[in-house]
This record gives sequence, C-alpha cells and structure tokens, in this order.
Amino acid sequence: MLSIMIIGAGYVGLVTGACFAQKGNHVVIVERSQEKINQLLQGKIPFYEPHLDEIVTQALREKTLTFVNNIQDGLKDHPSIIFLCVGTPSLPNGAADLSYVEQAALEIGQNVNHDVLVVNKSTVPVGTAHKVKNIIQSALTKRSITLEINVASNPEFLKEGDAVNDFLHPDRIVVGVDAENAAHLLHVLYKPFITPGRHFLCMNIKSAELTKYASNAMLALRISFMNQLSHLADLAGADIDQVKRGMAHDKRIGSYFLNAGVGYGGSCFPKDVAALAHMGTEYHFPMTLAQEIENVNHVQRVWFINRITTHYGPAIAQKTVGIWGLAFKPETDDIRSAPSIDVINELLAKGARVIAYDTVAEANIRAIFGDRITYASTARDVLQQADCLVILTEWKEFFTFGPSDFMELKDKTIFDGRNCFDPYTMKAAGLQYFCVGRNNSSKAISTTAHPRKHKTSQATTASL
Ligand SMILES: NC(=O)c1ccc[n+]([C@@H]2O[C@H](COP(=O)([O-])OP(=O)(O)OC[C@H]3O[C@@H](n4cnc5c(N)ncnc54)[C@H](O)[C@@H]3O)[C@@H](O)[C@H]2O)c1
Repeated sequence: MLSIMIIGAGYVGLVTGACFAQKGNHVVIVERSQEKINQLLQGKIPFYEPHLDEIVTQALREKTLTFVNNIQDGLKDHPSIIFLCVGTPSLPNGAADLSYVEQAALEIGQNVNHDVLVVNKSTVPVGTAHKVKNIIQSALTKRSITLEINVASNPEFLKEGDAVNDFLHPDRIVVGVDAENAAHLLHVLYKPFITPGRHFLCMNIKSAELTKYASNAMLALRISFMNQLSHLADLAGADIDQVKRGMAHDKRIGSYFLNAGVGYGGSCFPKDVAALAHMGTEYHFPMTLAQEIENVNHVQRVWFINRITTHYGPAIAQKTVGIWGLAFKPETDDIRSAPSIDVINELLAKGARVIAYDTVAEANIRAIFGDRITYASTARDVLQQADCLVILTEWKEFFTFGPSDFMELKDKTIFDGRNCFDPYTMKAAGLQYFCVGRNNSSKAISTTAHPRKHKTSQATTASL
C-alpha cells in the first residue's frame, strides 16, 4: 500500500483520494479551503456527487484518508506520489490558466525533502509536466537541495454524476511517463482498478497530456455535430432523434454524446475545447475544427434563447418563465458554463420574471442570481405559476410528467432544450412544444401494428 498526497479536494481530487483510500492506500488531501475541510470532516461533501459521501466517510472512519490545509503538512508522511488535482480554468484568450498548478508545484519545491513522483491529474496543455518539473527543480536549487523528482501525467476521465463508478471502473487509465520507476509505481497503484477489458496505457508525457484534450474535444464535437444537424433536420422535414437512432446502431459510431439540445456546458468541455484551439495558435497551427465546435455550441445556445424571446416578442416582459433544470447536466450541482446562466440572464434582461426548479443546483444558482429570480420547491409549482416552461436539464424526475400536467401552464407552451418529450404527443394534446431538430415529428409508426390498418411499406417499418 502506498502513501499518497493529493492537492485539491474538488470533484477530481476528492474522488481520486477517496477511491485510492478505499483500496487501502494512505491518502492525505491538501485543500486550501479550511471551510471545505471542516465540511468534509463531518462527512459532508461540498458538492453533489452520488455515492462519494459513502466512501469518504468509510475512509475517514478507517483513518486511510486525512485532510490538511497546506502542502508542508501534507508532506510530513513522506508520500511516494503527489497528485496535482487543482483547477485549470479558462483565461480570457481561451488558454488554460496554469496559476494553480504552478503555485502547487512551487510549494512542493519549497517544502519537499524526499524523492517523490509528482503526477499531474489536472487537465493541462502539452508541455506542462515539463514546466512543473522546472518549477520544482528551481525551488530545490534555491534551497541547495538535490532530490530525484519525477513528473508524470495521468489525465482524469471521470464524469461528474458518475464519478465514483468511473474512477473505480475506468475504461482506461492513461499515464504519461519518462522514467521506468514512475511507470512501475503508477502501475502498482492502479493495479486494483485494472480488471479484464480495462486498459493501463503507458505513453510519453506529451501524448498523455494531449489525449485528455483530444477525448473531450471528440465528445464535444459529436454534440456540436448533432446540434448543427438538428437545424438541417428541421428544415428538411426530418427528425434528429430518428436520425440519431439510425446512426447509433452502427457499432463504429455508437449512441453516446449524440443528443441534440441546447449545447454543452460544464467545467470541462467549454474550457478544454477552447484550450485545444489555443494550443493550435501557440504552435501556429490553427485548430479550425476545435474553433468550429465552440462556434456551433455558442450559436446553438443563442438560437435556443432567441427561440423563446422571439416567440413572445416584447410581451416577454409580462411573462413568468418557468425553468426546469439549472445544472449543466443531470446528477450534478455543477453550473459552470451551464446554459441556464445565459438563459436566465437574457430573460431578465428582457424584463421577464423567472421561476426555477432544480433542488440539487439551486444553491449554486442562488449564489449568482440571489433573489432576482424565484426558486420553486417542486417541479409542479413551476407549472402552476409560470406562463411557459423552459427545460434545460434532463433530470429523471421530469420524465414522470406528461401532456396533461403541462396544461397547467398559462400559455401551454414549452421550450424543451433537452428533447425530453415526444413532440407529436405534446402537440396532439394542444400544447405549443418547441424542441431541437424534432419539430416535424409525426406519429410514431409501430412495427407490431396490424398490417391492414397501416399502409406502410416493409422497408419503412423495418428501418424505424
Ligand atoms: N470536474 C470534472 O468532471 C473533471 C473531470 C476530469 C478532469 N478534470 C480536471 O481536473 C482538474 C480539477 O478539476 P475540479 O473540477 O476537481 O476542480 P475544482 O475547482 O472543483 O477543485 C479544485 C480544488 O483545488 C483547490 N486548490 C487549488 N489550489 C490549491 C493549492 N495550492 N493547495 C490546495 N488546494 C488547492 C481548490 O480550493 C479547489 O477545492 C481540472 O484541471 C479539470 O479540468 C475535471
């Protein structure tokens, strides 16, 4: 079992630390926010992540996990590996802000007194491991100390909302190393997570760093592609959901990240696509496709907002707009770059009143909008108080509602940014239902219906 230090108790650091501790390693997490540490020591997770509280509480009880608020204290147990799990938000020019990574590296260099492997788990541009090594080495040189400090890259692929499961059962573990002992140590650490069919992929450091951006950009590309295609589907009389089904059954394509909607948000895709585009600029190689992924995502968001505001025109100022879902996706309270922020800002700017519902993400939205909007305690409250409904997150609960529930809306109007409902059924019930790329949807044709009742050709039914 290894002694491990993690810097940063955010989504990635806390999940990483708790999961390594669950496998019996001794983990100390350095988190500079004492308020977060106090919550964690009481078994409270500072953000919403299913099942994380269970493994944190268990590790605290078994004393395999501890928290400290500074790197000097974290180094006292001489960890053999240090993981950097600090934030790398976007700078205004799209580049990744490395100040947290660099600060952590500096503090390691100023305080470490033993040989150690430093592993970058934060998402960082190609060449950052090299920078981190240099920062640590110069701090050691200033202290006139010689130590063997290896730096490796180990990008994290967990997704919020299923982070614990992703960490415990990863599709693949990517490690970028330039020393055999670093590869060996990381293999020992990850061995309990490598089950048949899961891959431990060892590569050079720069390839590992780029792999993370390539993976996120590819997922974002799929979303932007479907969003752009959704407009063509509407214009041409097709239904983007049916097109998706037709594509997804091709094993080479699969079904993930092919839902048209209001565009992607969150703490990773927007900043990572922007950082990839910026990296291209640095190497004088315009990453035009990455730029276009961003553009399409932006256009999609603007288009959706315009769909609402142009529907009402100046009358929007007399309307109460209900919003279902504030988080950037279900099963998280993360609202970083969430569409809800832009939608609410625009509605308020046009004079509309907003009543929103999302029990998980409400606190984070309150921190931005305070009492400029109203917060409903149930989804039904929104339907009873609003003129129209805007759906921005596809929380499971929303699928339990049907057309008769929406008749409570004063204007019987829904703008569904997540394609949660069947357009034909909604419209047949007398609702105005606006969705994404499904606005020509007709009654579903069943393959099991009596052939005499439906004069559809075999070719048509078979392809449904
Ligand atoms: N959130 C995700 O789903 C996800 C998934 C994969 C990769 N990543 C990447 O992982 C990194 C971390 O993301 P996150 O969402 O966990 O970030 P976060 O902002 O939620 O957490 C970072 C934490 O680090 C702490 N911190 C910063 N500097 C520190 C220092 N010097 N000492 C101690 N603590 C310090 C902050 O207080 C904060 O609690 C980012 O690069 C991100 O792109 C995130």
